[in-house]
Amino acid sequence: MRILQLSDPHLLADPAGRCHGRPALDLLRHGLQEALGQLGALGEAPDLLLISGDLCDDETWGGYARLADLLQEIPLPVALLAGNHDQPTLLRAALGRRAVIAPALVRCGQGWLLLLDSHRGGDTAGELGPLQLDWLQRRLAAEVPAVGQPLLVAVHHPPVPIGDPAMDAIRLRDGDALLDRLRPVPGLRGLVFGHVHQHWHGPLPGRPEVPLLGCPSTLRSFGPVQPCPLGRPADPGGRWLHIGGDGVLRQRLLRWAPVDGPSLARCNAPTP
Ligand SMILES: [Fe+2]
Repeated sequence: MRILQLSDPHLLADPAGRCHGRPALDLLRHGLQEALGQLGALGEAPDLLLISGDLCDDETWGGYARLADLLQEIPLPVALLAGNHDQPTLLRAALGRRAVIAPALVRCGQGWLLLLDSHRGGDTAGELGPLQLDWLQRRLAAEVPAVGQPLLVAVHHPPVPIGDPAMDAIRLRDGDALLDRLRPVPGLRGLVFGHVHQHWHGPLPGRPEVPLLGCPSTLRSFGPVQPCPLGRPADPGGRWLHIGGDGVLRQRLLRWAPVDGPSLARCNAPTP
C-alpha cells in the first residue's frame, strides 16, 4: 500500500481565485508535482492519491470541476474525503466516476483503506454519526481478516485533541466512538487526517504503536502544535504512507516551497 496524502486545498470555482489570498488551484497543482517529483527522486511511486478533505472552499460545482480537470492529468487512482468546507452532493456528482469517495472500504495494495465521511452540514466540527459507525464496524468484521492484512484509516477531522484549543473545539465529535471500534482491529496500522493544516503525530489511545497523523495543507499552514520535523512549518506539504510486505507502516512528511511564498496563520478562527 503506497499512498500520497495531500489535504485541504480549498479550491474555488474561479481557476484563478485566491482563498485567504492564496492561489488555491495553482498551489494544489504545484504541490502534486512537487510531491510526485520528490517521491520519484526516492525511487517511489504511489498506488493512490488521497486528498483528505476541504477540497472546495466555496462549495460550488465549479470548484469540484476544477479538481476533476486537474485529476485528469494524474494517471492514479484517487480517494477523496469531504471536509467541513465541502458539499458532499456536488462532490459526488462531479467526481464520483473519477474517485472513490468516503465512506468506503477499499483494497489498496496488500491492505485495506477505510475512508470515512466526517462532514456535518452547517458545522465546522465533524461527526461520523451512529449509522456510519455501525456500517464501518460491520464492514471491518466482514471483510478485514483478523490477521495478515493491514488497515489504514482516513478521516478529515482529528479524532483526538491535538493541543490547540481552537482546533480541538472543532475536532471529530464522536472520535472516541470511532477509536473504540478501531482499537480491537489487529491489522490497524494508522489513522490519517487533515483539517489541522499542520504536521501532527500522536499515539492512538490504548494502541500506542498505532500512529495518528495530521497532514499539512497545500493552501496554507496554521501555527503548529508540534515542531515540524523538517523545520519548515510554514511551507505547504503532504505525507507519504507506505505499508510494505512486512506489514509495517512507514511514513514521511513532505514539504515544498510554495509558488507564492510561505504562509503561517494563527488558528484562531473556526474556518479551517
Ligand atoms: Fe481546511
